[in-house]
Amino acid sequence: MKKEPFYITTPIYYVNAEPHIGHTYTTVLADTLARFWRLYGCDVYFLTGTDEHGDKIMQAAKKEGVETQAYVDRIAGIFKSTFEELGFSNNRFIRTTDADHVKVVQGILQKVYDKGDIYFGSYGGYYCVGCERFYTEKEIVDGKCPDHQTELQYISEKNYFFKMSSYQDWLIKHIEQNPSFVEPEAHRNKVASFLSEPLGDLCISRPKERLPWGIPLPFDSNYVTYVWFDALINYLTAIGYPNGPNFRKYWDNCYHLIAKDILIPHAIYWPTMLKAMGAGPYKGLRVHGWWQVDETKISKSLGNVVRPLDMKAKYGFESFRYFLLREMSFGLDSSFNEELLVERINSDLANDFGNLVSRVLGMTEQYQDGIVHKVEGEEGRLQAISQDISEELPKLMEAFRFRKAILKIWELVTGSNAFVEESAPWVLNKEGKTDQLAGVLYSLLESLRLLSVFLTPFMPETCAKLRTKLGLQALDNAVGYNELVKWGRLKDGVKIEKGAALFPRIEAALED
Ligand code: MSP
Repeated sequence: MKKEPFYITTPIYYVNAEPHIGHTYTTVLADTLARFWRLYGCDVYFLTGTDEHGDKIMQAAKKEGVETQAYVDRIAGIFKSTFEELGFSNNRFIRTTDADHVKVVQGILQKVYDKGDIYFGSYGGYYCVGCERFYTEKEIVDGKCPDHQTELQYISEKNYFFKMSSYQDWLIKHIEQNPSFVEPEAHRNKVASFLSEPLGDLCISRPKERLPWGIPLPFDSNYVTYVWFDALINYLTAIGYPNGPNFRKYWDNCYHLIAKDILIPHAIYWPTMLKAMGAGPYKGLRVHGWWQVDETKISKSLGNVVRPLDMKAKYGFESFRYFLLREMSFGLDSSFNEELLVERINSDLANDFGNLVSRVLGMTEQYQDGIVHKVEGEEGRLQAISQDISEELPKLMEAFRFRKAILKIWELVTGSNAFVEESAPWVLNKEGKTDQLAGVLYSLLESLRLLSVFLTPFMPETCAKLRTKLGLQALDNAVGYNELVKWGRLKDGVKIEKGAALFPRIEAALED
C-alpha cells in the first residue's frame, strides 16, 4: 500500500446543539483513521469544526435571547473544548465564521459567478429549516420533511442560483467510472437514484433583510450565501485553497466522512460545485449509519441525548470510544444502550484484554522479577496471528471497516488468552522449566507490545499506558509501521511493571 498524504474530514457541526453521541461517533472514526495512517507513515491532515451560519443558528440564538455572534462563540467553544478533552488529534478546528473561510467562500462565489455559472432568478419551493434545504416534490412525504417530519415552509423570492444542472451528466459519469466515490454501495445507489431525475439548479443565496447571518455575496451585498454553499467549502479553506501548498498536497486524497442525513449535499451539490470552480472532485465520500438511543431517535425533548463527557466521567472515554467502534457496522444503523456498553466493557475490555495484560505482567513479576527474558522457541502461533493482523489491518482501514479491524486485532487477545491456558506457565514454573517459561512469557509480552501498536488508533491513551507498563517509550510513528509490527522488538532485560488494571470491572454503574 502506498504511503500517500491522507486528508480526512468530518462534517462541520451545527452550533444549535451541544456535542452528542452522533457528533462524537463521526469524529472518533476520523480520529481513528488519522491515527492509523500516521502510524502507517502517511502525512495526514484531519479536519473537524463547526457550521455557524444560516437560519437555524439565528433562530437558536434568538431563542436564547443573545446576540448571534455571542451564541455561536459559546457553542463552538463547547465543541472545541469537548473535542480537546476527548483527545482528538485534529490538525485544525475550523469555524465558518473564521476570517480565512469567509475570504475563500467569497473568492469561489466570484469565480463561479464570473464563469457564468451563477444567475439571478426567482424561485418558490418547500424548505426545511432543520435541513437547511429545499425538498423536491418527489422527496416530500405527506407535505413534511422526510427527515424531521416537520411541516415544510413555502418560500418564494428572488435569489441567485448555481447552475448545478449543467454538471449532472458529468457527475453521473464520474460516479459510474469511480464506484468508490461514494461507499458503502447502498448509499451510492441512493445517489444514483437521485441523479436519475433532472437535477435542477441550486438556490445559493438568501436576501440579507430576511437572513443577515451569513457571508455576503461579493457581487451583491443585499444577499448572503446559502449555508450549504458556505459550509461545504470549509474542506478547501482548511488546506489553503486555492494556492496553499497543503491544498496541492492533500486534496487528491481527500475523504469525507458523514452520516446518511447529509448525503445529498455532499454527493450532489459538492462535486458539482467543485467541478464548476475547477478544483477537481474529492477522492471519496464515506457514509455511516445513524445512532439511536434505546431504539429511539435522539432528541433533546425526549431527554435521551448521550453526551460524550458524561460517558467519559462515568466509564472513561476510551471504553465508550471502543464501544462505538466495535458496535456499529459501517454504513448500517445501530442503537446505543448503556447496559450493552457496560457488558462490552466488562467482557471485552476488563475480562479479555485487561485480564490478559494483568496476568502476563503479573506472571512476569512473579516468575522473573519483572524482567523480560528474550528467549525464542515458543512464538509459533502468536507470531502467526500478529503477522496476519499486521497484513490485514491496513486493508481493513482502507475499506473503513472499523468493527472488522477490531475483531481482527482481538484474534491476538483471544489467541494469547488461550496460549496462557495451554502453556500453563505456573506448571512450567513449578517444574523448574525456566527456559520454556521464559519463552512462553516472551511470546505473551511481545503480543502485548504488538497489541499496543495495533490498538493505538482505536484506544490511544490505553495503549500509551500499556506501553509504559511494558517499559516502552511512547509509540514513535517515525519508526514506521512495518518495523513496529515486526515480531521480536521487545528487548531482553527490560523491566516491566504490572501496576493498576487497565479496565476495572464496572459493577453497579447503572444504579446511579
Ligand atoms: N452542518 C451540517 C454539516 C455541514 S458539512 C459541510 C450538519 N451538521 S449536524 O450538526 O447536523 O451534523 C450532522 C452529522 O453529525 C452527521 O452527518 C453525522 O456525522 C453526525 N451525527 C449527528 N447525529 C447523528 C446520529 N444520531 N448518528 C450518527 N451520526 C450523527 O449536518
